[in-house]
Amino acid sequence: VPQPPDILSPQFAADPYPSYRVLREHYPLHYHEATGSWLISRYEDVERAFRDPVFTTDNYAWQLEPVHGGRTIVQMSGHEHAVKRALVAPAFRGRELRTRFMPVIERNARELIDAFRDHEQAELVDQFATRFPVNVIVDMLGLDHSEHDRFHAWYEAVVGFFANLGQDPEVAAAGLRAGAELRAYLLPVIERRRADPGDDLLSSLCTAEIDGTRMTDQDITSFVSLLLSAGGETTDKAIAGMFRNLLAHPDQLAAVRADRGLVPAAFAESLRHSPPLQMIMRQTAAEVTLSGGTVPAGATVTCLIGAANRDESRYADPDRYDVFRTDLTTANAFSAAADHLAFALGRHFCVGALLAKAEVEVGANQLLDAFPDMDFATGEPPPETGVFVRGPHTLPLRFG
Ligand code: HEM
Repeated sequence: VPQPPDILSPQFAADPYPSYRVLREHYPLHYHEATGSWLISRYEDVERAFRDPVFTTDNYAWQLEPVHGGRTIVQMSGHEHAVKRALVAPAFRGRELRTRFMPVIERNARELIDAFRDHEQAELVDQFATRFPVNVIVDMLGLDHSEHDRFHAWYEAVVGFFANLGQDPEVAAAGLRAGAELRAYLLPVIERRRADPGDDLLSSLCTAEIDGTRMTDQDITSFVSLLLSAGGETTDKAIAGMFRNLLAHPDQLAAVRADRGLVPAAFAESLRHSPPLQMIMRQTAAEVTLSGGTVPAGATVTCLIGAANRDESRYADPDRYDVFRTDLTTANAFSAAADHLAFALGRHFCVGALLAKAEVEVGANQLLDAFPDMDFATGEPPPETGVFVRGPHTLPLRFG
C-alpha cells in the first residue's frame, strides 16, 4: 500500500492527480495532520458533503472577512444563508443574463480580443482570461468602463492575499489595502444608487428585498468583493484550462471548431477534468459515516473536488479529456443536477455558474473565430500551478 499523499508537498503541487487516485483507492477518509482536516476524495462522499446539512460552512476555513470587510454568503449557513443568497441570486438567473448582461459579455470579449486580433502571438491569461471576468463584473455593476484597470489591480491584490496564505506580510497588507479601497470607492456609489436606482447589478443589490430584509451597505461591499475573487480567478482558470485542454488534443479542437455546438461539452468536460477550485472545506455538526469511515463531530473536512471529478467508479477513463464523453451530461450541467462537482452542489452551488458558462462560451467562440489557427507558442502545454485554485498561470499562444 502506498504512503498517504501530502496535499502540501511540492510533488502534489506539481501534479495532484496521482495522489488523488491513491487517496480514493487506499485512504478515502484520511486525517491530514498539517491542515488539521479530514480529506475526502470519492465522488459519493464529496457529493454527500455538499448536499447533507450536517456539513456546515459556519467555521469557514479560509479567513475571508479581513479582505471582504465582513461575512459573505459562502460562510453562512441555514436561514441566514437562505435569505442573503435569495437577495443576490435573481440577478444571476438565465433570463437576467440573456436580457441584461449578454451584450456586456459579448462587448467585453470583443474589446479584449481586438487588442491582439492582428498579432502573431498573445499570452491568453494576461491579455484575456484574467481581465475578461473582472471587466464584465465592473460593467454589470453599472460602473464606468474606465474603471476596468483599477478593478483589475484590486482583483490581483485580493487573489494574491488568498494565494499567499499569510506568508508574505507585504502581499497580505496589499490585499487588505485593496479590499479597503474597494469598499471606500463603492460606498458613495451605493448611496447614489439607493437614491436613484438604474438597470444595473449594483442597483439590483441596493433595492432587493425579501420579507422586509434588505442588504446593508456592508452586505453589498463584501458581496462585490466576493464577486471579484469568486467570479474572477475561477473563470480565468476555466478559460485558460479549457484552451490548454483543447490545444493538447488537436483532434478535439478541430471537432469543436467545426461544430460549435460542442463548446458547452468542451467547457463541462474541462471543469470535470481540471476544476479551477480543487478543494473546499466544510465542518461536521455531528458524527457522520461516509464510504471510507466515520468523521467525528466538530471536524474540518477538506472536500477534494479535483479527486471526486476523476472517480473511476463514476467516469470511464477519468484522466482522459474527452469532449465526446457520454458519462457527463452537458445540457443540464448548471442545474442542481450537475454531474461534475466543479461548481459544488446543494445550497452553496455556485451562484455565478450560468454567468461563468456564458462568459466562457462567448469568449471561446470569439477566440475561435478570430484565430482560425492557434497553437502553444512553445509547442508544449504550459504547466498548471496552484493547490487550492489550479490552472495554467500563463498560456502563450501563436497564431497562424
Ligand atoms: C460558490 C466554483 C464562477 C460567484 C462557488 C462554489 C464553487 C464555485 C465550487 C462553492 C463554494 C463553497 O461551497 O464553499 C466556481 C467556478 C467558476 C465560478 C469553477 C468558474 C468556472 C463564478 C462567477 C461568479 C461566482 C462568475 C459571480 C460573478 C459565486 C458565489 C458563490 C460561489 C457568490 C457563493 C454561493 C453560496 O455560498 O451560496 N463557486 N465559480 N462564481 N460562486 Fe462560483
